[in-house]
Amino acid sequence: MSGLDDVVAAETEMSSVDGANGRLIIRGYSLEQLAGEVPFESVCQMLFEGCFDNLPAPDGFHAALGAARARVAERVFGVDADIARLPPMDAVRALVARFDDDDTLDNALMLLAAQGVLLPAVLRIRKGEQPIAPDETLGHAADMLRMLGADASPEAAAALDVYLVTVSDHGLNASTFAARVVASTWAGLTSSVLAGLSALKGPLHGGAPGPVITMLDGIGEAGNAVAWIEEALDRGDRLMGFGHRIYKVRDPRANALKRAVARLAAGSPAGLGRLELAEAVELAALDVLHRRKPDLALDVNVEFYTALLLERLGFPPDAFTAVFAAGRTAGWIAHAREQRLKGRLIRPASRYVGPAVRAA
Ligand code: CMC
Repeated sequence: MSGLDDVVAAETEMSSVDGANGRLIIRGYSLEQLAGEVPFESVCQMLFEGCFDNLPAPDGFHAALGAARARVAERVFGVDADIARLPPMDAVRALVARFDDDDTLDNALMLLAAQGVLLPAVLRIRKGEQPIAPDETLGHAADMLRMLGADASPEAAAALDVYLVTVSDHGLNASTFAARVVASTWAGLTSSVLAGLSALKGPLHGGAPGPVITMLDGIGEAGNAVAWIEEALDRGDRLMGFGHRIYKVRDPRANALKRAVARLAAGSPAGLGRLELAEAVELAALDVLHRRKPDLALDVNVEFYTALLLERLGFPPDAFTAVFAAGRTAGWIAHAREQRLKGRLIRPASRYVGPAVRAA
Protein backbone atom coordinates (compact mmCIF):
# COMPACT_ATOMS: atom_id res chain seq x y z
CA MET A 1 0.00 0.00 0.00
CA SER A 2 2.84 2.42 0.75
CA GLY A 3 3.56 3.04 -2.93
CA LEU A 4 -0.04 2.70 -4.23
CA ASP A 5 1.06 -0.25 -6.42
CA ASP A 6 -1.71 -1.29 -8.83
CA VAL A 7 -4.12 1.37 -7.51
CA VAL A 8 -6.00 2.91 -10.43
CA ALA A 9 -6.18 6.60 -9.52
CA ALA A 10 -7.31 8.12 -12.82
CA GLU A 11 -8.82 7.32 -16.19
CA THR A 12 -6.86 8.76 -19.07
CA GLU A 13 -6.96 8.88 -22.84
CA MET A 14 -3.32 9.97 -22.98
CA SER A 15 -1.19 6.86 -22.68
CA SER A 16 -1.05 3.28 -21.52
CA VAL A 17 1.92 1.42 -20.07
CA ASP A 18 1.84 -2.37 -20.40
CA GLY A 19 4.47 -3.45 -17.90
CA ALA A 20 4.20 -7.18 -18.54
CA ASN A 21 4.80 -6.92 -22.26
CA GLY A 22 6.97 -3.81 -22.36
CA ARG A 23 4.64 -1.70 -24.48
CA LEU A 24 3.90 2.02 -24.36
CA ILE A 25 0.92 3.42 -26.25
CA ILE A 26 0.38 7.17 -26.59
CA ARG A 27 -3.01 8.29 -27.89
CA GLY A 28 -3.49 4.99 -29.70
CA TYR A 29 -0.01 4.82 -31.25
CA SER A 30 2.76 2.55 -30.09
CA LEU A 31 6.05 4.19 -29.16
CA GLU A 32 7.60 2.51 -32.21
CA GLN A 33 5.05 4.27 -34.45
CA LEU A 34 5.99 7.65 -32.98
CA ALA A 35 9.68 7.86 -32.01
CA GLY A 36 11.67 8.82 -35.09
CA GLU A 37 8.54 8.74 -37.23
CA VAL A 38 6.61 11.80 -36.00
CA PRO A 39 8.07 15.11 -34.75
CA PHE A 40 7.69 16.17 -31.13
CA GLU A 41 5.32 18.97 -32.18
CA SER A 42 2.87 16.45 -33.67
CA VAL A 43 2.90 14.35 -30.52
CA CYS A 44 2.22 17.46 -28.41
CA GLN A 45 -0.63 18.42 -30.72
CA MET A 46 -2.06 14.92 -30.38
CA LEU A 47 -1.74 14.98 -26.58
CA PHE A 48 -3.45 18.39 -26.41
CA GLU A 49 -6.43 17.25 -28.56
CA GLY A 50 -9.64 17.88 -26.63
CA CYS A 51 -7.78 19.86 -23.96
CA PHE A 52 -8.17 23.33 -25.51
CA ASP A 53 -10.93 24.86 -27.66
CA ASN A 54 -8.54 26.84 -29.85
CA LEU A 55 -5.87 24.19 -30.48
CA PRO A 56 -4.01 24.85 -33.77
CA ALA A 57 -4.38 22.24 -36.52
CA PRO A 58 -1.48 19.76 -36.72
CA ASP A 59 0.30 21.80 -39.41
CA GLY A 60 0.01 24.97 -37.30
CA PHE A 61 1.44 23.57 -34.07
CA HIS A 62 5.08 23.91 -35.15
CA ALA A 63 4.61 27.68 -35.72
CA ALA A 64 2.61 28.11 -32.51
CA LEU A 65 5.34 26.45 -30.44
CA GLY A 66 8.04 28.49 -32.23
CA ALA A 67 6.17 31.70 -31.43
CA ALA A 68 5.83 30.59 -27.81
CA ARG A 69 9.63 30.09 -27.60
CA ALA A 70 10.06 33.70 -28.70
CA ARG A 71 7.53 34.88 -26.08
CA VAL A 72 9.34 32.94 -23.35
CA ALA A 73 12.67 34.49 -24.34
CA GLU A 74 11.17 38.01 -24.22
CA ARG A 75 9.68 37.37 -20.80
CA VAL A 76 12.53 35.71 -18.97
CA PHE A 77 15.87 36.25 -20.64
CA GLY A 78 16.84 38.56 -17.81
CA VAL A 79 17.93 35.46 -15.89
CA ASP A 80 19.39 36.75 -12.62
CA ALA A 81 22.76 35.49 -11.48
CA ASP A 82 21.16 34.01 -8.35
CA ILE A 83 18.95 31.78 -10.45
CA ALA A 84 21.69 30.79 -12.89
CA ARG A 85 23.76 29.54 -9.94
CA LEU A 86 21.12 26.97 -9.00
CA PRO A 87 21.25 23.41 -10.37
CA PRO A 88 19.69 23.63 -13.86
CA MET A 89 16.43 21.91 -12.91
CA ASP A 90 15.92 24.27 -9.97
CA ALA A 91 16.81 27.30 -12.09
CA VAL A 92 14.25 26.34 -14.74
CA ARG A 93 11.64 25.74 -12.04
CA ALA A 94 12.30 29.16 -10.49
CA LEU A 95 11.87 30.83 -13.89
CA VAL A 96 8.71 28.91 -14.73
CA ALA A 97 7.26 30.03 -11.38
CA ARG A 98 7.18 33.56 -12.80
CA PHE A 99 4.58 32.62 -15.42
CA ASP A 100 0.90 33.50 -15.07
CA ASP A 101 -1.04 30.58 -13.65
CA ASP A 102 -3.94 30.14 -16.06
CA ASP A 103 -5.38 27.32 -18.15
CA THR A 104 -5.20 29.02 -21.54
CA LEU A 105 -3.62 27.48 -24.62
CA ASP A 106 -1.20 30.43 -24.72
CA ASN A 107 0.07 29.56 -21.25
CA ALA A 108 0.23 25.85 -22.15
CA LEU A 109 2.41 26.67 -25.17
CA MET A 110 4.61 28.97 -23.07
CA LEU A 111 5.08 26.22 -20.49
CA LEU A 112 5.88 23.69 -23.20
CA ALA A 113 8.31 26.08 -24.89
CA ALA A 114 9.82 27.19 -21.58
CA GLN A 115 11.93 24.13 -20.85
CA GLY A 116 13.43 24.26 -24.33
CA VAL A 117 14.38 27.94 -24.07
CA LEU A 118 15.26 28.34 -20.40
CA LEU A 119 17.55 25.35 -19.96
CA PRO A 120 19.97 26.34 -22.76
CA ALA A 121 19.90 29.94 -21.49
CA VAL A 122 20.72 28.92 -17.92
CA LEU A 123 23.50 26.58 -19.08
CA ARG A 124 25.11 29.30 -21.18
CA ILE A 125 24.82 31.98 -18.50
CA ARG A 126 26.57 29.80 -15.93
CA LYS A 127 29.47 29.42 -18.39
CA GLY A 128 29.61 33.23 -18.74
CA GLU A 129 28.04 33.15 -22.22
CA GLN A 130 25.11 35.13 -23.60
CA PRO A 131 21.84 33.25 -24.16
CA ILE A 132 21.01 32.65 -27.83
CA ALA A 133 17.58 33.88 -28.96
CA PRO A 134 15.14 31.29 -30.32
CA ASP A 135 14.55 30.81 -34.05
CA GLU A 136 10.79 30.40 -34.40
CA THR A 137 11.07 28.68 -37.75
CA LEU A 138 13.00 25.66 -36.47
CA GLY A 139 11.67 22.50 -34.89
CA HIS A 140 11.72 22.50 -31.08
CA ALA A 141 14.57 19.96 -30.80
CA ALA A 142 16.76 21.67 -33.41
CA ASP A 143 16.22 25.07 -31.81
CA MET A 144 16.98 23.77 -28.34
CA LEU A 145 20.36 22.43 -29.51
CA ARG A 146 21.09 25.64 -31.43
CA MET A 147 20.29 27.74 -28.34
CA LEU A 148 22.61 25.50 -26.31
CA GLY A 149 25.40 26.24 -28.80
CA ALA A 150 25.71 22.49 -29.45
CA ASP A 151 25.72 20.52 -32.71
CA ALA A 152 22.29 21.24 -34.18
CA SER A 153 22.80 19.17 -37.36
CA PRO A 154 19.73 17.35 -38.69
CA GLU A 155 21.09 14.10 -37.20
CA ALA A 156 21.52 15.60 -33.73
CA ALA A 157 18.14 17.34 -33.89
CA ALA A 158 16.49 14.09 -34.99
CA ALA A 159 18.04 12.27 -32.02
CA LEU A 160 16.80 14.88 -29.53
CA ASP A 161 13.40 14.79 -31.19
CA VAL A 162 13.27 11.00 -30.66
CA TYR A 163 14.09 11.62 -27.01
CA LEU A 164 11.41 14.27 -26.47
CA VAL A 165 8.78 12.08 -28.13
CA THR A 166 9.88 9.01 -26.16
CA VAL A 167 9.45 10.73 -22.79
CA SER A 168 6.43 12.88 -23.69
CA ASP A 169 3.96 10.83 -21.67
CA HIS A 170 3.99 7.66 -19.59
CA GLY A 171 0.79 6.83 -17.75
CA LEU A 172 0.38 7.88 -14.14
CA ASN A 173 4.04 8.22 -13.21
CA ALA A 174 4.88 10.16 -10.03
CA SER A 175 5.29 13.58 -11.68
CA THR A 176 2.14 13.22 -13.79
CA PHE A 177 0.20 12.16 -10.71
CA ALA A 178 1.55 15.22 -8.88
CA ALA A 179 0.51 17.44 -11.78
CA ARG A 180 -2.98 15.89 -11.77
CA VAL A 181 -3.39 16.29 -8.01
CA VAL A 182 -2.63 19.99 -8.33
CA ALA A 183 -4.96 20.38 -11.35
CA SER A 184 -7.69 18.63 -9.39
CA THR A 185 -7.75 21.55 -6.93
CA TRP A 186 -8.42 23.93 -9.87
CA ALA A 187 -5.02 25.58 -9.51
CA GLY A 188 -3.64 26.64 -12.91
CA LEU A 189 -1.39 24.91 -15.43
CA THR A 190 1.76 26.62 -14.17
CA SER A 191 1.15 25.16 -10.73
CA SER A 192 0.66 21.70 -12.23
CA VAL A 193 3.87 21.95 -14.25
CA LEU A 194 5.76 23.15 -11.17
CA ALA A 195 4.45 20.14 -9.27
CA GLY A 196 5.56 17.90 -12.13
CA LEU A 197 9.04 19.45 -12.16
CA SER A 198 9.38 19.01 -8.41
CA ALA A 199 8.39 15.35 -8.49
CA LEU A 200 10.50 14.58 -11.55
CA LYS A 201 13.78 15.76 -10.10
CA GLY A 202 14.20 12.98 -7.54
CA PRO A 203 16.66 10.20 -8.45
CA LEU A 204 14.01 7.48 -8.28
CA HIS A 205 12.13 9.19 -11.14
CA GLY A 206 13.73 11.65 -13.59
CA GLY A 207 16.90 12.32 -11.64
CA ALA A 208 18.48 8.97 -12.49
CA PRO A 209 20.35 9.63 -15.76
CA GLY A 210 22.98 12.02 -14.35
CA PRO A 211 24.19 9.35 -11.90
CA VAL A 212 24.30 6.83 -14.79
CA ILE A 213 27.19 8.90 -16.18
CA THR A 214 28.87 8.84 -12.76
CA MET A 215 28.53 5.04 -12.84
CA LEU A 216 29.97 4.71 -16.36
CA ASP A 217 32.84 7.05 -15.52
CA GLY A 218 33.48 5.20 -12.24
CA ILE A 219 33.58 1.84 -14.06
CA GLY A 220 35.83 3.24 -16.79
CA GLU A 221 36.28 0.02 -18.72
CA ALA A 222 34.14 -3.05 -19.29
CA GLY A 223 36.37 -5.36 -17.28
CA ASN A 224 35.70 -3.37 -14.09
CA ALA A 225 31.92 -3.49 -14.39
CA VAL A 226 31.04 -6.52 -12.26
CA ALA A 227 33.32 -5.55 -9.36
CA TRP A 228 32.09 -1.92 -9.38
CA ILE A 229 28.45 -3.03 -9.43
CA GLU A 230 28.93 -5.62 -6.67
CA GLU A 231 30.57 -2.96 -4.49
CA ALA A 232 27.77 -0.48 -5.13
CA LEU A 233 25.12 -3.05 -4.21
CA ASP A 234 27.11 -4.10 -1.13
CA ARG A 235 26.96 -0.47 0.01
CA GLY A 236 23.16 -0.63 -0.42
CA ASP A 237 23.15 1.65 -3.48
CA ARG A 238 20.61 1.26 -6.25
CA LEU A 239 21.83 1.00 -9.82
CA MET A 240 20.49 4.04 -11.62
CA GLY A 241 18.84 3.21 -14.92
CA PHE A 242 17.59 -0.20 -13.72
CA GLY A 243 14.27 -1.32 -12.29
CA HIS A 244 10.78 0.05 -12.76
CA ARG A 245 7.54 -0.04 -10.83
CA ILE A 246 5.46 -0.99 -13.88
CA TYR A 247 7.84 -2.66 -16.35
CA LYS A 248 8.69 -6.21 -15.43
CA VAL A 249 10.59 -6.57 -18.70
CA ARG A 250 12.91 -4.23 -20.59
CA ASP A 251 11.52 -0.70 -20.82
CA PRO A 252 10.62 -0.17 -24.51
CA ARG A 253 11.87 3.42 -24.28
CA ALA A 254 15.38 2.09 -23.67
CA ASN A 255 15.30 0.42 -27.10
CA ALA A 256 14.13 3.58 -28.88
CA LEU A 257 16.87 5.63 -27.22
CA LYS A 258 19.58 3.03 -27.72
CA ARG A 259 18.81 3.02 -31.46
CA ALA A 260 19.07 6.83 -31.50
CA VAL A 261 22.44 6.74 -29.70
CA ALA A 262 23.73 4.04 -32.04
CA ARG A 263 22.75 6.12 -35.08
CA LEU A 264 24.61 9.14 -33.69
CA ALA A 265 27.63 7.15 -32.58
CA ALA A 266 28.08 5.30 -35.89
CA GLY A 267 31.16 6.65 -37.58
CA SER A 268 32.71 8.07 -34.42
CA PRO A 269 35.19 5.76 -32.67
CA ALA A 270 34.81 7.68 -29.38
CA GLY A 271 31.02 7.50 -29.56
CA LEU A 272 31.07 3.80 -30.34
CA GLY A 273 33.50 3.15 -27.48
CA ARG A 274 31.14 4.81 -24.99
CA LEU A 275 28.21 2.81 -26.35
CA GLU A 276 30.17 -0.43 -26.10
CA LEU A 277 31.05 0.38 -22.49
CA ALA A 278 27.38 1.05 -21.74
CA GLU A 279 26.34 -2.23 -23.34
CA ALA A 280 28.90 -4.12 -21.27
CA VAL A 281 27.74 -2.36 -18.08
CA GLU A 282 24.13 -3.15 -18.90
CA LEU A 283 24.91 -6.86 -19.34
CA ALA A 284 26.97 -6.96 -16.15
CA ALA A 285 24.30 -5.13 -14.16
CA LEU A 286 21.53 -7.44 -15.33
CA ASP A 287 23.64 -10.47 -14.53
CA VAL A 288 24.51 -9.25 -11.01
CA LEU A 289 20.97 -8.03 -10.26
CA HIS A 290 19.41 -11.32 -11.39
CA ARG A 291 21.89 -13.30 -9.36
CA ARG A 292 21.50 -11.20 -6.20
CA LYS A 293 17.77 -10.51 -6.46
CA PRO A 294 16.37 -13.49 -8.39
CA ASP A 295 12.78 -12.82 -7.32
CA LEU A 296 12.73 -9.25 -8.63
CA ALA A 297 12.19 -8.51 -12.30
CA LEU A 298 14.82 -5.77 -12.62
CA ASP A 299 15.67 -4.71 -16.16
CA VAL A 300 17.04 -1.64 -17.89
CA ASN A 301 14.81 1.45 -17.85
CA VAL A 302 14.57 4.60 -19.95
CA GLU A 303 17.21 6.47 -17.97
CA PHE A 304 20.19 4.30 -18.88
CA TYR A 305 20.28 5.18 -22.57
CA THR A 306 18.91 8.66 -21.86
CA ALA A 307 22.23 9.36 -20.19
CA LEU A 308 24.21 8.21 -23.22
CA LEU A 309 22.06 10.12 -25.67
CA LEU A 310 21.96 13.42 -23.80
CA GLU A 311 25.68 13.26 -23.05
CA ARG A 312 26.36 12.75 -26.72
CA LEU A 313 24.12 15.70 -27.63
CA GLY A 314 26.19 18.01 -25.43
CA PHE A 315 24.05 18.39 -22.32
CA PRO A 316 25.93 18.26 -19.00
CA PRO A 317 24.78 15.44 -16.68
CA ASP A 318 23.25 17.83 -14.13
CA ALA A 319 20.92 19.10 -16.89
CA PHE A 320 19.58 15.70 -18.01
CA THR A 321 16.50 15.87 -15.79
CA ALA A 322 15.57 19.26 -17.17
CA VAL A 323 15.75 17.85 -20.72
CA PHE A 324 13.43 15.05 -19.56
CA ALA A 325 11.10 17.80 -18.32
CA ALA A 326 11.18 19.47 -21.74
CA GLY A 327 9.50 16.37 -23.16
CA ARG A 328 7.31 15.39 -20.21
CA THR A 329 5.77 18.86 -19.89
CA ALA A 330 3.58 17.90 -22.85
CA GLY A 331 2.15 15.01 -20.84
CA TRP A 332 1.79 17.04 -17.64
CA ILE A 333 -0.23 19.71 -19.42
CA ALA A 334 -2.45 17.19 -21.20
CA HIS A 335 -3.09 15.26 -17.97
CA ALA A 336 -3.73 18.45 -15.99
CA ARG A 337 -6.33 19.58 -18.54
CA GLU A 338 -7.90 16.12 -18.68
CA GLN A 339 -8.13 16.11 -14.89
CA ARG A 340 -9.60 19.62 -14.82
CA LEU A 341 -12.16 18.86 -17.54
CA LYS A 342 -13.21 15.38 -16.50
CA GLY A 343 -11.99 14.69 -12.99
CA ARG A 344 -12.85 15.57 -9.40
CA LEU A 345 -10.74 16.76 -6.49
CA ILE A 346 -8.19 14.03 -5.73
CA ARG A 347 -8.40 13.50 -2.01
CA PRO A 348 -7.48 9.99 -0.82
CA ALA A 349 -7.79 8.82 2.75
CA SER A 350 -5.07 7.88 5.19
CA ARG A 351 -5.23 5.40 8.04
CA TYR A 352 -4.25 6.93 11.37
CA VAL A 353 -1.62 4.82 13.13
CA GLY A 354 -0.59 7.41 15.75
CA PRO A 355 -1.35 7.27 19.48
CA ALA A 356 -4.92 7.18 20.73
CA VAL A 357 -6.32 10.39 22.21
CA ARG A 358 -4.08 11.23 25.15
CA ALA A 359 -5.41 11.71 28.62
CA ALA A 360 -6.04 15.40 29.31
N1 CMC B 1 19.18 -1.36 -8.11
C1 CMC B 1 19.21 -2.20 -7.05
N2 CMC B 1 18.12 -2.66 -6.42
C2 CMC B 1 16.94 -2.23 -6.88
C3 CMC B 1 16.82 -1.37 -7.97
C4 CMC B 1 18.00 -0.93 -8.59
N3 CMC B 1 17.98 -0.11 -9.63
N4 CMC B 1 15.51 -1.13 -8.21
C5 CMC B 1 14.82 -1.80 -7.29
N5 CMC B 1 15.68 -2.46 -6.49
C6 CMC B 1 15.32 -3.33 -5.38
C7 CMC B 1 15.15 -2.56 -4.08
O1 CMC B 1 16.35 -2.36 -3.40
C8 CMC B 1 14.22 -3.47 -3.34
O2 CMC B 1 14.98 -4.57 -2.90
P1 CMC B 1 14.62 -5.37 -1.56
O3 CMC B 1 13.21 -5.86 -1.74
O4 CMC B 1 15.66 -6.44 -1.50
O5 CMC B 1 14.72 -4.34 -0.46
C9 CMC B 1 13.31 -3.99 -4.45
O6 CMC B 1 14.05 -3.86 -5.65
C10 CMC B 1 12.00 -3.25 -4.57
O7 CMC B 1 12.26 -1.87 -4.57
P2 CMC B 1 11.10 -0.79 -4.58
O8 CMC B 1 11.72 0.54 -4.31
O9 CMC B 1 9.98 -1.22 -3.71
O10 CMC B 1 10.61 -0.94 -6.06
P3 CMC B 1 9.86 0.15 -6.91
O11 CMC B 1 8.92 -0.55 -7.77
O12 CMC B 1 9.31 1.21 -6.06
O13 CMC B 1 11.11 0.71 -7.73
C11 CMC B 1 12.30 2.28 -8.94
C12 CMC B 1 11.06 1.41 -8.89
C13 CMC B 1 12.43 2.89 -10.33
C14 CMC B 1 12.16 3.40 -7.91
C15 CMC B 1 13.55 1.44 -8.61
O14 CMC B 1 13.68 0.37 -9.52
C16 CMC B 1 14.82 2.26 -8.58
O15 CMC B 1 15.13 2.86 -7.53
N6 CMC B 1 15.60 2.29 -9.69
C17 CMC B 1 16.79 3.10 -9.75
C18 CMC B 1 16.43 4.55 -10.07
C19 CMC B 1 15.97 4.70 -11.50
O16 CMC B 1 16.56 4.18 -12.43
N7 CMC B 1 14.91 5.50 -11.68
C20 CMC B 1 14.35 5.79 -12.98
C21 CMC B 1 13.04 5.09 -13.19
S1 CMC B 1 12.52 5.09 -14.91
C22 CMC B 1 11.97 6.72 -15.15
C23 CMC B 1 10.55 6.81 -14.83
O17 CMC B 1 9.72 6.33 -15.62
O18 CMC B 1 10.25 7.39 -13.79
